[in-house]
Amino acid sequence: NSYDVIAIINTGTDKEKYTNIQQTDTSKDTLMLNNKYYQLSKDYIPDDLVDVKNWYSYGTNAKLREIAYNAFVNMYNAAKEQNLTIIINSSYRSYQEQEEIYNQYLSQHGQEYTDAYAARPGHSEHQTGLTMDVTTYGANGKNFDQTDEFKWLQDNAHLYGFILRYPKDKEYLTGYDYESWHYRYVGVEAATIIHDNNITFDEYYA
Ligand code: DAL
Ligand code: ZN
Repeated sequence: NSYDVIAIINTGTDKEKYTNIQQTDTSKDTLMLNNKYYQLSKDYIPDDLVDVKNWYSYGTNAKLREIAYNAFVNMYNAAKEQNLTIIINSSYRSYQEQEEIYNQYLSQHGQEYTDAYAARPGHSEHQTGLTMDVTTYGANGKNFDQTDEFKWLQDNAHLYGFILRYPKDKEYLTGYDYESWHYRYVGVEAATIIHDNNITFDEYYA
């Protein structure tokens, strides 16, 4: 429909992926866009990363930017009051860590599948320190959207400044398959607009 056509043109997603690549404008801070057309430099490391406490996370050495971490803790506590548990699976990743993940996917799954799920190094939102993959007890990545935690996040994540970054049926705009587990901090104001209008961050940014 015409709305989709306009959205595609506004977001530039009519262009072939990983072409016309520009540097991510980090001065936009929590609203920086990092996707298949915007790239962070190899040495971009947020200067306010903090350690995620172990009880919030699977795995060790998890880090997030302070503003996103504080928002996560508030969201975690609110979910807990409903007897729901949001666990961080992966949060900040350096350029080098993303490169390892991408290459490992590539060696196992081939180019097309890999590009549908894993960002190329420099292109991952995980490098911004504003993003986390979440899960809960008994869920694996792919069935997270069957959980009560997911349903709660659908209704409440924006109140803490988080958005579901790669929604279902928006692959043509985001460049990635649906990821029910990948949440991005953009602040409450932007998150509320994105949630209430059912748009992607790519459209909001454009
Ligand atoms: N899975 C997301 C797209 C990433 O690799 O950043
Ligand atoms: Zn992710």
